Amino acid sequence: MNQITEFPRLHTVPMSNHEVPQVIAIDGPAASGKSTVGEAVARRLGFLYFDTGAMYRAVTLAAIGRKINLGDETAVTALAESVHIDIVPPTVEDGRQYTVLVDQVDVTWGLRSAEVDANVSTVSAYPGVRAALSRQQRRVAKTGRVVMMGRDIGTVVFPEAPLKVYLNASAEVRARRRAQELAERGQSVDLASVLAAMIERDAIDSNRETAPLRIASGAVIVETDGLAIDEVVERIVALAHERFQ
Ligand code: DC
Repeated sequence: MNQITEFPRLHTVPMSNHEVPQVIAIDGPAASGKSTVGEAVARRLGFLYFDTGAMYRAVTLAAIGRKINLGDETAVTALAESVHIDIVPPTVEDGRQYTVLVDQVDVTWGLRSAEVDANVSTVSAYPGVRAALSRQQRRVAKTGRVVMMGRDIGTVVFPEAPLKVYLNASAEVRARRRAQELAERGQSVDLASVLAAMIERDAIDSNRETAPLRIASGAVIVETDGLAIDEVVERIVALAHERFQ
């Protein structure tokens, strides 16, 4: 089966150049390869690399840290509207792709904790949280060309992006990747529970009412099971050369 499929593009006639966001949107479920692929594509093209999942994680971690009840939508939304999140180039050489500061405090690795994993889907289902973070994402894209990863970048945040990619992989392959990442960071892992948590998170992300995980119209779909990262990167870079002058 062809692992790279292109759906018919609906937005083929850009209105005028300044109205078209200079964004490569990469969406897909957890551990589908978005961050590895996105970082490599951004480096090859000289685009900014921006992982929007880190913003949802930062709000979740900040809510936990402030002992806000995560079921309290109003309180969590107020936090998302007021908290100061900065995503900047790595400030420490410890394998991180970027540094995340919440109100000036480095929380980069805290974002990857099991507690954040378990709660981030609840927080990211709140429409007010999504509105606050989407606004910031649109502001980032005004600063230059960007590869932006997430769940709703091609469907909601930048539906008119010149290049939209949907990365996918089977739940088993994704769970194995995530378990390996956790093990590399010295966290004890049990593959079955990583898989169960991932399936649960996928279900919440795909079934929520606001901006669920969907394949955007016009997206290039890439099934990454058994595909080398380099092949995926080459394909996206080639498409970007066609679509960005
Ligand atoms: O990509 P990630 O696993 O770091 O994302 C963490 C969570 O954030 C994920 O469960 C869904 C949510 N998310 C979202 O709803 N919309 C985005 N644009 C990015 C992430």
